[in-house]
Amino acid sequence: MKIGFFDSGLGGITVLNEALSQKIHGHFMYLADNKNTPYGIKDKNKVKKYIFENIEYLVNNECKIIVIACNTATALCIKDLRKMYSNICFIGTEPAVKVAVDDEKNKKIIVAATTITLKEEKLKNLITNLHITDKVDLLPLDKLVEFAEENVRGNIVDEYLKEKLCSYKLSEYSHIVLGCTHFPIFKENIQRIVPNLKVVDGSKGIISNLTKKIKNLGYDLESLKIDLVLTKKDNRFVNNFNNLCKQEENEVKYIY
Ligand code: DGL
Repeated sequence: MKIGFFDSGLGGITVLNEALSQKIHGHFMYLADNKNTPYGIKDKNKVKKYIFENIEYLVNNECKIIVIACNTATALCIKDLRKMYSNICFIGTEPAVKVAVDDEKNKKIIVAATTITLKEEKLKNLITNLHITDKVDLLPLDKLVEFAEENVRGNIVDEYLKEKLCSYKLSEYSHIVLGCTHFPIFKENIQRIVPNLKVVDGSKGIISNLTKKIKNLGYDLESLKIDLVLTKKDNRFVNNFNNLCKQEENEVKYIY
């Protein structure tokens, strides 16, 4: 039995790393659709097609639990995937809006994510159901995905964040929620630009969900092994993966 992790690229590592920090060890298969990344600014029907193809690969390769370590893919496809594969346990990712609201009720929050995630019903429903429509501001930060994939760091990132955040009256806000798994790679940059806001992401919640599912399904986990599966050969991606991930991958496979 393997546990699949899926993202358009490097972002899912922020979720995988949380699993590794919590000593959840098993045979992990991390599939990154590096051929088609970024997803968040593309036509959503095209992106859905990519997601379905990639998930089929994980299902055909013995993944019984699949962590959709991507907010964009979760927003677009998790319902369909659960219908298509009723024998697979899917764990989705959604912006940790509830964590922020539970922590502070009187101030506003910024939800930063990809353009697709911000436009989809899933997030709108979450915000409506929590009755916080007037407290949430949505901020697309798609360029951070590109920066992460292209290994851009430092000043360029800070300047981009400053430009995106300068129009906010930050004293009215308590949190910025990182609703894209790529964004925690830049947590320090973000915190530097908005020092008075709490920066939260969903990785702890996802992994606590994963732990529960493993227990409920009665799976015995083997020792730690990480297979990295890419949709395009790219040595730089493998190096970036190994630099960001708390554990080197054991095997790299290329598909398509
Ligand atoms: N890491 C992804 C997310 O959480 C995808 C970003 C992208 O490919 O645009 O949304």
